[in-house]
Amino acid sequence: MHLKLQQYLIYTLYLTFLLSHLSYAKEPIVPLPQKPDYNEAKAQIGKQLFFDPILSRDRNISCASCHNFSYGGADKRTVSLGVDNRKGNIQSPTVLNARFNFRQFWNGRAIDLLDQAHGPLLNPKEMALSKEEITQRINASQKYKKLFKTVYHTDNITMDMVIDTIVEFEKALVTPNSKFDRYLRGEIALSPKEQEGYLNFKELGCVTCHNGINIGGNSFQKIGLFNPYPYSDAFPDRYSVTGKDYDKNVFKVPTLRNIALTAPYLHDGAAKSLKEAIIVMSFHNLGYRISDEKIAKIEAFLKTLTGEPPAILMDN
Ligand code: HEC
Ligand code: HEC
Repeated sequence: MHLKLQQYLIYTLYLTFLLSHLSYAKEPIVPLPQKPDYNEAKAQIGKQLFFDPILSRDRNISCASCHNFSYGGADKRTVSLGVDNRKGNIQSPTVLNARFNFRQFWNGRAIDLLDQAHGPLLNPKEMALSKEEITQRINASQKYKKLFKTVYHTDNITMDMVIDTIVEFEKALVTPNSKFDRYLRGEIALSPKEQEGYLNFKELGCVTCHNGINIGGNSFQKIGLFNPYPYSDAFPDRYSVTGKDYDKNVFKVPTLRNIALTAPYLHDGAAKSLKEAIIVMSFHNLGYRISDEKIAKIEAFLKTLTGEPPAILMDN
């Protein structure tokens, strides 16, 4: 009975999804723009701030400490460490292509990047500063005084300006021209293994939740839809936002772009490899134990989702 309901749910989800896509696209995944729009001058300041520990109380942590571009804009630790080595409470998601997520954070508590950026700066476990401390520090820096003046034409740098530049930098963090995007644009072919992996991804139903421009990032879904996944209220899930029981273990579906680079996986960092993440997903979210061969094919497909580093990270 239980399973039937779940199955019904997933098929309804699939159908709704198919119907909503039928009209304008034959593929459920859309390529990233090759030249994302953003304000270059602001983004260049945001870039400096992103890597600058000036924004943390102990001057040891920058955004890049937990969103490391050598690890796909994420953190290879299970949970990140903030000021004074304080442990965070959830795995750090990637900032790459985050602008295409319909909400920010695992539980979607920020509506967009602008709303999100205040979070880590003020979070006592992350950078742990107040607005006043931040603006004081930035206004005391000759370097930032000069940089902000060229863009905002003022000697008084406000918190809104600081956030504005960080957001413009994040908007530049787009990774175009992955093998898969080039395949979607008809420029190249996938290998037979990758192609079969993509077919499996669609046929098994992965695509019901992982679709669109970010191959995820556009809905909230439960981990453990078919087979329950361990629950702990230590993680900020949708339940922590809505207080509704059915929102326990519900998270924003993560993007699968650059997924080969961002281990470990899942909100609790429990899946150490891509293979493990695929096994968890197919068992807990679709109710299948799939063969090693299928897993390998899906993995080959997922590896085609790694894009080029954003242009803004290349010009040093
Ligand atoms: C101490 C580690 C740490 C630092 C420092 C940090 N972050 Fe994060 N970041 C995280 C974690 C952990 C999450 C997920 C939190 C959650 O969902 O509850 C996150 C989430 C995000 C997200 C949301 C991504 C998504 O898909 O939901 C963005 C964007 C982001 N951070 C940008 C930044 C920026 C910009 C800075 C610097 C101002 C920064 N982070 C500093 C650890 C960190
Ligand atoms: C019912 C919706 C749903 C389906 C179906 C689904 N996923 Fe997911 N996927 C999610 C959610 C939600 C998460 C985040 C779960 C968490 O971390 O607790 C996730 C996480 C992942 C992750 C880890 C991402 C990261 O950054 O940590 C991978 C990889 C993944 N899914 C691949 C797949 C594959 C492959 C399939 C098909 C076998 C699949 N998913 C089917 C909703 C779904």
